[in-house]
Amino acid sequence: MSQARLKIEVARAALEFVEPGMVLGVGTGSTVDAFIEELAGSGIRLGGAVSSSDATTRQLREIGVEVMDLNHTGDLDLYIDGADEVDEHSRLIKGGGGALTREKIIAAASRRFVCIVDESKCVKTLGEFPLAVEVVPMARAFVARKLVGLGGRPELRDGFSTDNGHLILDVRKIDLLDPVRMESEINQIPGVVTCGLFARRPADVVLVAGESGIRRRG
Ligand code: 5RP
Repeated sequence: MSQARLKIEVARAALEFVEPGMVLGVGTGSTVDAFIEELAGSGIRLGGAVSSSDATTRQLREIGVEVMDLNHTGDLDLYIDGADEVDEHSRLIKGGGGALTREKIIAAASRRFVCIVDESKCVKTLGEFPLAVEVVPMARAFVARKLVGLGGRPELRDGFSTDNGHLILDVRKIDLLDPVRMESEINQIPGVVTCGLFARRPADVVLVAGESGIRRRG
């Protein structure tokens, strides 16, 4: 089965968690794109959604979902999003699409985070996929030096600016054997908005689409 097909399968499986009338947190990326399409076809009418990116906002509006401000919704019952890597403890690397900061905010504000991936995203140890770090532009070089000090090889994501007007440093070779500790260390560097490690607040449920069907953890 193609990866695109697996994304559709896992997107469809996530509908089981969605209840009519709920205000849903919605992530960003191609798996979430598939989820939004499945949602449109499902006939489930949401009370609204909190979106993690401008791209997701556009798509949600296209299918007639009201996009709401997290400042007005309070905490959410459910957040659905993809990931770039998932380990056995449901800790994630996210941010391949550059939406990591809003994604992390919504994940933190949600009682349940359902992560939807195809099996290519499952890893034993996080860190093969470059770790995105969102930085305030004036701190770019300073943060890059600090990341080198932590053992990483940061590279500016060329020509990219986040929806928040910041830059992304993609960091390779950084040791993520203790992702909870590294998430805190990176987040404490002045100028870092957030990093794409979701270890302190991992997913509650991971749905994995593979050749033999959907596997659920959590
Ligand atoms: C965006 C993300 C995405 O969830 C992640 O990049 C996975 O994307 P895709 O579903 O396209 O594989 O973190 O910032």
